[in-house]
Amino acid sequence: PPGTVQDEAGALVLGGVPVAELAETYGTPALIVDEASIRARARQYARGLAARWPNSRATFASKAFPCTAVYRLLVEEGLGVDVAGGGELTLALAAGADPAGLVVHGNAKTEEELRLAVEAGAGTIVVDNFDDIDKLEKILAPTPTAGSGGGQGVLVRITPDIRPDTHEAISTGQHGSKFGLLLPQAREAIARLRTSDRLRLDGVHVHVGSQILDLEPFAQAVEAVAELGEFAVYDLGGGLGSRYTYPDHPPTVEAYLDAITDVAKRLLPADARILIEPGRSMVAESGVSLYRVVSVKRGGGHTFVAVDGGMGDNLEVSLYQQRFEAAVATRPTGEGELCRLVGHHCESGDTLSADVPLDDPRVGDLIAVPVTGAYTYALSNNYNGARRPPVVFVRDGEHRPVVRRETYADLMRRDLP
Ligand code: LLP
Repeated sequence: PPGTVQDEAGALVLGGVPVAELAETYGTPALIVDEASIRARARQYARGLAARWPNSRATFASKAFPCTAVYRLLVEEGLGVDVAGGGELTLALAAGADPAGLVVHGNAKTEEELRLAVEAGAGTIVVDNFDDIDKLEKILAPTPTAGSGGGQGVLVRITPDIRPDTHEAISTGQHGSKFGLLLPQAREAIARLRTSDRLRLDGVHVHVGSQILDLEPFAQAVEAVAELGEFAVYDLGGGLGSRYTYPDHPPTVEAYLDAITDVAKRLLPADARILIEPGRSMVAESGVSLYRVVSVKRGGGHTFVAVDGGMGDNLEVSLYQQRFEAAVATRPTGEGELCRLVGHHCESGDTLSADVPLDDPRVGDLIAVPVTGAYTYALSNNYNGARRPPVVFVRDGEHRPVVRRETYADLMRRDLP
C-alpha cells in the first residue's frame, strides 16, 4: 500500500522494523508512526516555504495528531504550533513549544481559554468573531504601545466563500460556515482592532478546508486575503490532501507552495510574513494501523474480515467516508478476494474499507491499514469500552512506545463511586 515497504518474504517493514515484531511487542490494534517520515515532511514544508518566501513560518496544525511526542518532534524541527483550544495549548506547552510561535484557534474560545493563551504568552490569537475581541479586551490591560508593536498579537479569520471539492464536514471557507467572518464583518473587525489599546492587529487568516486535492482553492484563498488590504502577517491555513488510496493524486508539497507563493508574489506586500498550517499532510502518511483478524465470515454477498479495532481508533470512514487501502501485513500482496474490512464495534458504519482485495485472509492474520497518521489518534474514543491503542514510533530499525495502550482500569478512572 502507499508509503510502505516489504521484505523479501512480502512482509511489511515499518521504519526498518518487521510488522510481526511490532505486533508481538505492542499487541494490536496499534498505531505505528515512522518518525523519519514526519521529520522529512516537516523539512519539506519549512525549507520549501522559506526558499520561496523567506519571511515565513510553517506551523503544525496539531489537531491532526495531538500527542506530546508528535509536538516534541515538530518543535524540534523548528515549526510553530497551531492549537485549537485549551487542551492542545496545554499539550503544546508541555512538549516545549515556544509560546511566541503558538497560533491559537477556535470558533468558541472561552474566556478561560483566552486567559490561558494570554498568560502563556501565545504569540498569535486568531479572532473568529466579535466576542473574541470583547473577551480579549476584558482580559488584557491597556498597553501604551498597542498601536506600535506592543499588545497581544491577533489575526482576523475570514470566510472567503470558497468551496473546495472535499467532504462537506471538512469544508470551512464557504458562505454559511461557522468559522471566521464574512468580508464586510471582517473589515469591521479590522477597523475596530486598529483602534484597540490592548490588541495589535498583525493581519488576516484563511483556511478553506481539509483533504483538498486541487490547487485552485488555495490560490483563491490568497486572492481573498489580499483583497482585505496590506498587513504584516497572512496566515494561509492548511488543507493539502494526502494520498490514501492508489487513485488519489494530491498535489505535492512543492506544487502547493508554488501555488500559494505565486499568488502571494503578485498580490501581497513583499515584506509581509506568511504562515501556513498544514496538519493532515504533515502526519497522515507517517502512520500505519495494525490490526489482527478476529473473524472471517462469508454471506450476503460479502466476505467480512473483522478485526480487533475500527471506529474507536479510526473515525475517518464513519465521519467522512474516507477510503483506505489495506493489506495482509505478513504476506505478499497478491490479487486477493474483494473483502469488506470491518471493525469490532456495534454499528454497521464501523467499516475500515468497504471493498479491499485481501489475499486469503485468515483468523490471526495481521492487517495493515496505511496512511492513518492524521485525525485517527486525535478522534479516537472508547465506544463499546474499546481501549485506545498505543502509538509506537519506529526509526532506523528501532521502536519505542510514545503512548501506551489504555487499560480496563483507565476506562473507569473518571467514574465516581
Ligand atoms: N488550520 C485551521 C484553522 C484548521 O481548522 C485546520 C483543520 C487546519 C489548519 C489543518 O488542516 P489540514 O492541513 O489538516 O487539512 N477531523 C477532520 C479534519 C478537520 C480539519 C479541521 N481543520 C478529519 O478527520 O478529516
